[in-house]
Order: sequence, then structure tokens, then C-alpha cells
Amino acid sequence: MKTIVTTSVLKAASFIRKGETVAFPTETVYGLGADCFNEKAVMKIFKVKGRASDNPLIVHIHTKSQIRLLVREITESAYRIIKKFFPGPVTVILEKNDLVPHLVTAGLNTVAIRMPSMKFTREFIKKCGVPIAAPSANISGKPSSVTWEHVQNDFKGRIPCILKGPEVKYGIESTVVDCSVEPPVLLRPGKITLEELQRIIPEITLVNKSSKIKSPGMKYRHYSPEAKVIFWNTENRKLAADNENSAYIGLNKPDASFRKIKICKSPEDYASSLFSFFRECDREGFKKIYVQKVQRTGIGLAIMNRLDKAAARQ
Ligand code: TXA
Ligand code: MG
Repeated sequence: MKTIVTTSVLKAASFIRKGETVAFPTETVYGLGADCFNEKAVMKIFKVKGRASDNPLIVHIHTKSQIRLLVREITESAYRIIKKFFPGPVTVILEKNDLVPHLVTAGLNTVAIRMPSMKFTREFIKKCGVPIAAPSANISGKPSSVTWEHVQNDFKGRIPCILKGPEVKYGIESTVVDCSVEPPVLLRPGKITLEELQRIIPEITLVNKSSKIKSPGMKYRHYSPEAKVIFWNTENRKLAADNENSAYIGLNKPDASFRKIKICKSPEDYASSLFSFFRECDREGFKKIYVQKVQRTGIGLAIMNRLDKAAARQ
């Protein structure tokens, strides 16, 4: 299959209308989308990503009025989040209506909805004429794609169209909040922080690891580069120091030398640099990536969530 790379939202939307998949940018990461009402098209996403069929997709909308096409009712907590953070890097989960195919929600009776803040993305969705079901545009288990080149590395020859747009702003996925339950539960930390959400919904809680898994995607290996991801600490310092095959990313300069080092200016910079750094290290053949831990507050909660999962593989 030929993969075209285009900057035209009209051209990209024409693939969606033909029941095809299109990779597109958002302010968080690239998504791999299809018409959410077309099961055949949605099936192609699962196939090409190698995604487990019990892992539901996020449905992307261009205007708040499209929410009504997807859900039974908008709960009070969802209403508050939508009012404050839509469009933006947050996803709300609500009880779905009968129009949303079970394939999209992986058999759940809830649907995840997000309205991206990137204008270019919303223009694309508008031209599609339907909400767009899309997971992140990466092979399952790999780091999310932050540039169109990352998408191309994973999917060249396997999807028909990559919509190339403005630079991704955050580089880390949206915050996912289950608003179908009361009080709402934060399933995946992301760009919008728990603290920001608590300001409008004080009783919101962080998903409990031991509780029945609410977000099916969270049980899968995620965000892993080919290289081994290891937390940087005083014990492994000596081992790492003379290792030509190791790279380091963190907020502070490590007291050891590495062939490749990325010192991030802020936790936000750390979050937005992480996936690109992982992919760069793989391309350059690194075997180990040492990562600095950060405090689990603010955006740090999302960083540690991704690092824990990336390091869990080994
Ligand atoms: O920023 C983002 O959220 C990006 C861009 C493309 O929008 N998308 C993204 O999608 O990260 P994905 O599929 O990689 O992650 C979606 C997460 C998964 O953990 C999935 O299990 C969860 O959301 N999810 C989706 N629908 C759900 C539902 N109905 N109930 C619980 N969790 C759900
Ligand atoms: Mg993903």
C-alpha cells in the first residue's frame, strides 16, 4: 500500500469518508483515526496497530455538540470538565448510546470522548463529517508518535494517509477521566493534572491499582522503546558510567557520563521530550536508557506513569 503524506485536511478527510484510516496530529500525540460509526474502518486500526480487541478507542470530536451523537447523558462531573477543559488534552468517559459500535468501546457500555485543542485537528474532523475513533498512532506497546516521521516509521506502507500538521505541543497523551461513575475516577494521568481537576471536582480520585481494571489499556505494556528503560539511582551509577550503549534523560545532570544526555528544563519539557527521546535512542542503537524519577505531583504523575510502564517490560 502506498502511504501519502499530505498537509491537506480535505484530502485526508476523503480517505476517512472512503472507510480508510488516517494518521493525524493533535496537541498531545498523533492519532490513527477512522470513522467511528464504520466498524470495518475501525477494525483496520486494531489490525494495523496490533491492538488487543479489549482495549477501547477514544472518539475525537470537533465541536461540543457532537457529544450528543455518542452518549446517553452528560453527568454533572463530565459537564464541569467539558466546560473547563474542552477543547483540550483531556478525555471524558460517559455511558455510550446505541449508535457507537461495540468495537470502538471494546464491548464496554461507555465511550471515551476528546475534543482536541489543535485547530488543524478540528478542521480535519469537521471535514470528515463524523467523529473519529483513534488510539495513539504507534505500533501497540511502542512509544506514542510525536511527529509525522514517527508515524511513518511505524506504519509506512500499511496505512494510506498521514496528515502532516503543526508541531505537537505537549508530546504526552491526554488525561482520561471516567465520568460514568460518581465520584469520577482518573484512569490515566496526562497533560491536565489531578490537581487541576480537583479544583473543579474535589472528590475525584486516582484509579486504584488493586481495583478491578477500569481502563483496559492500562494493563498492557506501553510506551516501551527497544532499549531497556532503567531508573537512575546511586546503585546503578557505577555500571552506567562507562557504558557506551547507555543514554540518560532527566531534570538534573547525572554524576556520570553518557554518550547521549538530555537534561530537561522543566517537568513539562521532560513530559514532552520523553517519547521522542526513546525513539531517537532506538534509532541510534542504544541498549539502555536511564531515566530520572520525578515527584508524582502535577505533570510528574503522568511522567512517572509512562516511565513505570516503560520500565516494567524488563
Ligand atoms: O492524547 C490522547 O489521548 C491520544 C490522542 C490521539 O487523542 N490518544 C490516545 O489513545 O492516547 P490511546 O488509545 O493510546 O489511549 C486511550 C486510553 C487507553 O488506555 C484506553 O484503554 C482508555 O483510554 N479508554 C478508552 N475508552 C475507554 C473506556 N470506555 N473506558 C475506559 N478506558 C477507556
Ligand atoms: Mg496509546
